[in-house]
Amino acid sequence: MALLPILCYPDPRLHTVAKPVAAVDERVRTLIADMLETMYEAKGIGLAASQIDVHERLIVIDVSDNRDQPMVLINPELIWTSPTTHLNEEGCLSVPGIYDGVNRFDAVHCRALDGEGQSRVIEADGLLAICIQHEMDHLMGKVFVEYLSPLKRNRIKTKMNKARREEAR
Ligand code: NI
Repeated sequence: MALLPILCYPDPRLHTVAKPVAAVDERVRTLIADMLETMYEAKGIGLAASQIDVHERLIVIDVSDNRDQPMVLINPELIWTSPTTHLNEEGCLSVPGIYDGVNRFDAVHCRALDGEGQSRVIEADGLLAICIQHEMDHLMGKVFVEYLSPLKRNRIKTKMNKARREEAR
């Protein structure tokens, strides 16, 4: 297993639209193991392949308290969304230190392949529903800060660029 570098906003590669995973083979299984290790190490609850510069429709999630219930979503599609939405505070491993409110469906049903390549439907609400929507946005090249006002977004860009310059020193 290996830790993978996570792209940081405003890296333009985060805006790449991911392609479907063609087959759940050895390469994909290795990628899943590496993404899970990277997500746990970074103390995140979700990671999309887009964030590690692999532009395929693959997501790992673990919203459990004990960090022992990994979920793998390959080629996920939302097949139902609740009529109600809610404003929730979100963060993202690609935008470290930034948290802000985003409107999401309260519940979703998501069809995806699991890590064995089996098709399943996940009926999610609460944190899992939010996380699935956040990670699926990544696969479409969208980072959560793009829901915020241009003013806020520019402020975040400036802050991220400054942090990167300081890191490079
Ligand atoms: Ni994210």
